[in-house]
Amino acid sequence: MNLTAPLTIALSKGRIFEQTLPLLAHAGIAPLDDPETSRKLILETSNPRVKFVIIRASDVPTYVQYGAADLGVAGKDVLLEHGGEGLYEPLDLGIARCRLMVAGQPDARPPTSRRLRIATKYVRSAERYFASKGQQVEIIKLYGSMELAPLVGLSDLIVDLVESGNTLKANGLVPLEHIADISSHLIVNRASWKMKHEAVNTLLACLREAVGERDEGLNPDSVA
Ligand code: PRP
Repeated sequence: MNLTAPLTIALSKGRIFEQTLPLLAHAGIAPLDDPETSRKLILETSNPRVKFVIIRASDVPTYVQYGAADLGVAGKDVLLEHGGEGLYEPLDLGIARCRLMVAGQPDARPPTSRRLRIATKYVRSAERYFASKGQQVEIIKLYGSMELAPLVGLSDLIVDLVESGNTLKANGLVPLEHIADISSHLIVNRASWKMKHEAVNTLLACLREAVGERDEGLNPDSVA
């Protein structure tokens, strides 16, 4: 793929990286190092005009917003928290699919003398969801292992991602309310969209084609 401008793509390690690679391979882009074994944070790729920056999933929108990366791949959960300022979201890659849900203990009763307490890493999404139901709640910000909070009396409920449901089940919790379907999206810095339009568009078209072929079952190497 010939690009008219150099492009930097922000990716996070793990599931998003693994599931984005087959789509980027469709555009002839493959990393020259494996981020799981290399400690490099900037990876060259098989296309000399494309490099990857490897960062935490929740930092991807920030790097792209400020133009430190032209493009990135970020979960809708992270984008909802970030707010999407300075970004375009032109393509749902349909990878890393899960649901944002309210969960809790099956027999829990709502408190009578105080507001319902919700533990979550997804503060903005939780606030918006409960506000939309007209329910006043107290949000308790956590950074992980939300499933523990109701078990030790820190919160009544949690708002968290659910994929297989195994983590909830292993901790005696049940999914209660569906907030949003989540998948990872391609995001583009607004200035790069204008200044590097041709290069961004070439890559976007290729990725769109890869997603289309995968969804039609034409490219069995790509996992949805
Ligand atoms: C996510 C999420 C749940 C779990 C859900 O955590 O926060 O804990 O996966 O998956 P399941 O329904 O298939 O069990 P993750 O492992 O991504 O780590 P995190 O706590 O850092 O978000």
